[in-house]
Amino acid sequence: MSKQKFYKIVTYGCQMNVHESEKIAGVLSELGYVPCGELSEADIIVFNTCCIRENAENHAFGNIGMLKKLKAENRELIIAVGGCLPQQVGKADNLHEKFPYVDIIFGTHNLHKLKDYVLLKQKQKKAVIEIDSDEGLVCEGDNPVRTSYPNAWVNITYGCNNFCSYCIVPFVRGRERSRHSENIINEVKRLLAEGYKEITLLGQNVNSYGNGSDNVTFPQLLEKIANLDGKFRLRFMTSHPKDFSEELARVIAANEKICHCVHLPVQSGSDAVLKAMNRKYTAQDYLTKISYLKKHVPDCAVTTDLIVGFPGETEEDFEATLNLVKEVNYSSAFTFVYSKREGTVAAKMPDQIPEEVSKERIMRLIDLVNSLTREHTKNYVGKTVEILCEDYDKKKGMYLGRDCYGRMGYFKSETNAIGEFVNIKISKANGVSLIGERV
Ligand code: 5AD
Ligand code: SF4
Repeated sequence: MSKQKFYKIVTYGCQMNVHESEKIAGVLSELGYVPCGELSEADIIVFNTCCIRENAENHAFGNIGMLKKLKAENRELIIAVGGCLPQQVGKADNLHEKFPYVDIIFGTHNLHKLKDYVLLKQKQKKAVIEIDSDEGLVCEGDNPVRTSYPNAWVNITYGCNNFCSYCIVPFVRGRERSRHSENIINEVKRLLAEGYKEITLLGQNVNSYGNGSDNVTFPQLLEKIANLDGKFRLRFMTSHPKDFSEELARVIAANEKICHCVHLPVQSGSDAVLKAMNRKYTAQDYLTKISYLKKHVPDCAVTTDLIVGFPGETEEDFEATLNLVKEVNYSSAFTFVYSKREGTVAAKMPDQIPEEVSKERIMRLIDLVNSLTREHTKNYVGKTVEILCEDYDKKKGMYLGRDCYGRMGYFKSETNAIGEFVNIKISKANGVSLIGERV
């Protein structure tokens, strides 16, 4: 009998979700499913959804809707929808009503039971729907099918306690819990032995890492991992400014394997907006954290997340954001228009900003961020950088990878360079990316 096939997990949202999809693929592999690249060949299709902004949610709804025809043609096909979207109050029922042909609906705390759900669904006609509430689940012993060689994602924390007033994550991911440091270190050792060259530690707020049972702080954990043998790069995301310490900046400076690249989301440059967002720092507090980095790691690339159009944001508030962006001189930034999420504190705030105002602001912000990014890339021309090659771009006929600051570089190579550290001399800066020759 031919093997059952799973279509590559359809993923929405952040790197956390990308890694979670690798875990879902791992669960399906344990059941004997093998991957396939065509929807029409698949025996199971899994959507790993995101609900952080309305457009991510709509995108998932649209794609699930498009499978109606395929399901009608192939009654044996299993369609499963998991992740953040069904974890929201009432959304699983909503999904079931809207798409009765979806076979399995499961929440963020149910990933490991997907195996049981598939087996159950193969026996019964009825849809399997299970959404657990926060059980303090810490995942160990996962067997992900990794898709991002030479990088490997490693969760160190799950959930979030910060309750930024705009954000749905604490509601759908539960309270923050940390993995035991020994388990994390053993996982990293295994990955390095398997040949992975870059480890990215993942958590909603890695800086507040700390497992009550072993008292290891985040800077200590980083140091322990950076001290492991072998040539590799160590990255981490995401950091919350309120927990970013000078000690962390010192640890980055003292360990050459830790990349000089920090993602430190500021969200806004206005104290009034930061307060309403419940971010627990002022613009000045944030700049103090940046000064730790500039002092200890002067060449550190800093990236950020920014939201425009938060309820009550005035033109002056927005200009404070533009000024902060210029002052920090970010090497790049993710920019978002505020999206109202039901159930959050901000959703009930008066003074929601009209769409045209938000749109105009985000265009101005994107222009500024792009001009800073272009300046950063221009400074590379003539320099030689070390790229960790991660892929081959068929259209361009070039290999690509990132330097330790996170900047993407393209180059030609006669031999397969994926997984190698390659020195390239930059000849051209192309907006956000670089082009160079192997030296
Ligand atoms: N609207 C817009 N952006 C949001 N983010 C989180 N919640 C929202 C929302 N409701 C952004 C923040 C966060 C990033 C992951 O997503 O900038 O840092
Ligand atoms: Fe959301 Fe704030 Fe937690 Fe980040 S820190 S996940 S923005 S609540």
